[in-house]
Amino acid sequence: MKLRGIRIAVSGKGGAGKTTLAAALIRAYAVTHRRVYAVDADPDASLAPALGISPEESSAIRPVVELKERIQDVMGGEGGFFSLNPRLAEILSDFCTHIGNILFIRMGGIKKAGGNCYCRENAFLNAVLTALLLEQDEVVVMDMPAGIEHLSRGTARGVDILLVVVEPNPRSVHTGQLVEKLAQDIDVPRVAVVGNKIASVEDAVAIETAFPGRVLGLLSFDHASYKGEGDPGPGFLARVAQIKESLDKGRAAT
Ligand SMILES: Nc1ncnc2c1ncn2[C@@H]1O[C@H](COP(=O)(O)OP(=O)(O)O)[C@@H](O)[C@H]1O
Ligand SMILES: [Mg+2]
Repeated sequence: MKLRGIRIAVSGKGGAGKTTLAAALIRAYAVTHRRVYAVDADPDASLAPALGISPEESSAIRPVVELKERIQDVMGGEGGFFSLNPRLAEILSDFCTHIGNILFIRMGGIKKAGGNCYCRENAFLNAVLTALLLEQDEVVVMDMPAGIEHLSRGTARGVDILLVVVEPNPRSVHTGQLVEKLAQDIDVPRVAVVGNKIASVEDAVAIETAFPGRVLGLLSFDHASYKGEGDPGPGFLARVAQIKESLDKGRAAT
């Protein structure tokens, strides 16, 4: 059977390292894959800077509502875009910010205090990404909003693998377990845990104990990440590349 491209969503508690891991995974996939869709589904909109997109470039990014309008123009109605392939990829590509073979897209603008959430845009973009016919050398990596509030059948639609990022502290573990449980309830096909900011053997044991047999990888505490001084260090990136390999292998085995 010919494999199609995978859709990976990165979830977990706020501050756990979702954006850091998503950006590193995106860069790792950009080396081996023809096209990487980098989707910022978190209203805090921090994936762009993590991928090296400047504030000027970032302010020029059009929101998903415009994509919706464009698709409706072309299709003349809601929901009919499923038949659009391969034009869907073309329209989406027009909307993305291109960084080499990385196609960046994000949810509506930055959430204002007391404003509405972007659940609808999120669900719409997921529907578009689900409708895309991804080739084996294409991949989608989504940086999800923090916690469980935004995780639903709609927002998780089409996701093949949900990576739950967990720090070695009880609150992060607790949120991770809730995310894991919810993901199973809404039938996400595969859920795996990545421990982050691991600084000791005890940290590693704490994660393995909380998620027995479900830990795909452990990422050490990384000083470059912590200080926010550009990209994570080489050790961190090498470990993320291994996580990517495990994802690809797991995929080939199923
Ligand atoms: N392995 C790590 N070691 C040290 N600091 C990290 C690590 N991973 C992430 N960080 C830092 O933790 C903070 C939160 O990370 P971020 O990726 O923005 O989390 P999230 O997207 O889950 O909110 C950032 O300051 C980031 O630089
Ligand atoms: Mg983030």
